[in-house]
Amino acid sequence: MSKVLIVYGSTTGNTETAAGYVADVLRKHGADVALKNAADVEAEGLARGWDLVLLGSSTWGDEDIELQDDFVHLYEGLDQAGLDGVKTAVFGCGDSGYPHFCGAVDALEERARDLGAVLVVDGLKIDGDPERGEIAAWAETVAVHV
Ligand SMILES: Cc1cc2nc3c(=O)[nH]c(=O)nc-3n(C[C@H](O)[C@H](O)[C@H](O)COP(=O)(O)O)c2cc1C
Repeated sequence: MSKVLIVYGSTTGNTETAAGYVADVLRKHGADVALKNAADVEAEGLARGWDLVLLGSSTWGDEDIELQDDFVHLYEGLDQAGLDGVKTAVFGCGDSGYPHFCGAVDALEERARDLGAVLVVDGLKIDGDPERGEIAAWAETVAVHV
């Protein structure tokens, strides 16, 4: 059974909800899924022991791209996470009314790629309230890799 870690950072609960929808799909495909709040985990060794790691953060910025508060320490310490060679995917909620829609997704993908992570699908950028159908469809493309 594939072991999947989903770590989310969420201020108003949107990305947390999205993470739950993703977990539902991956569990349906038989994965052993751990769902964790970014506030409760450390960057060091984060990715070790998992077959697939999903990173989810909403975006809080305007001119500057800002990760969700609880995710900042993970982003900054991501080089300690052991992502090299690990299958990874990124998702997050945002609002297309802002200049850089879901900038946190772009920033996390870029950093993960630089650290040698294997990005198995393009990141999911969720505009507005998370909708189960859209998120489940993306999670099905991730499930191919579990
Ligand atoms: C002050 C503020 C700044 C924001 N900045 C951005 C932004 O730069 N880009 C973006 O896509 N969304 C931005 N958003 C929208 C949030 O990312 C969006 O509301 C998201 O659903 C919050 O998800 P969460 O509940 O998981 O934290 C901003 C919202 C607020 C209130």
